[in-house]
Amino acid sequence: AAPTRYEAETSPATCAGVIESIHTGYSGSGFCNTDNAVGAAAQFTVTASEAGSATVAVRYANGTTTNRPADVLVNGAVAHAGSAFDGTGAWSTWTTKTLTVPLNAGTNTIRLSPTTATGLANIDYLEI
Ligand code: GCU
Ligand code: CA
Repeated sequence: AAPTRYEAETSPATCAGVIESIHTGYSGSGFCNTDNAVGAAAQFTVTASEAGSATVAVRYANGTTTNRPADVLVNGAVAHAGSAFDGTGAWSTWTTKTLTVPLNAGTNTIRLSPTTATGLANIDYLEI
């Protein structure tokens, strides 16, 4: 089936920072610019038709030359620790990172929680 897109700026998603639209190339009406702090997270609520491993795509931009790693938590448990969100060359250059995550049937939360004081890369959306 075609993936479902969950925009970072659309409730019930949350963004520990501001929704911005100042850099081009995003999907929807903007993207999540988190505060530059450890734990300043973007969280998504996603629905799975069945339990099991799923591939999740995270679209992001990182206009610095420094990785902005994040823990990826699924339903509160760390599924990937310190996952890399490397520089993309510009804040307007977006790329997609894929991860495998364990989902329950029904509603799940996926939280990207930065592990360094630079916060997250800018987050556009998540697709599953
Ligand atoms: C700039 C940029 C933001 C980005 C921020 C950062 O302010 O405009 O979109 O989130 O840098 O370094 O985190
Ligand atoms: Ca930021």
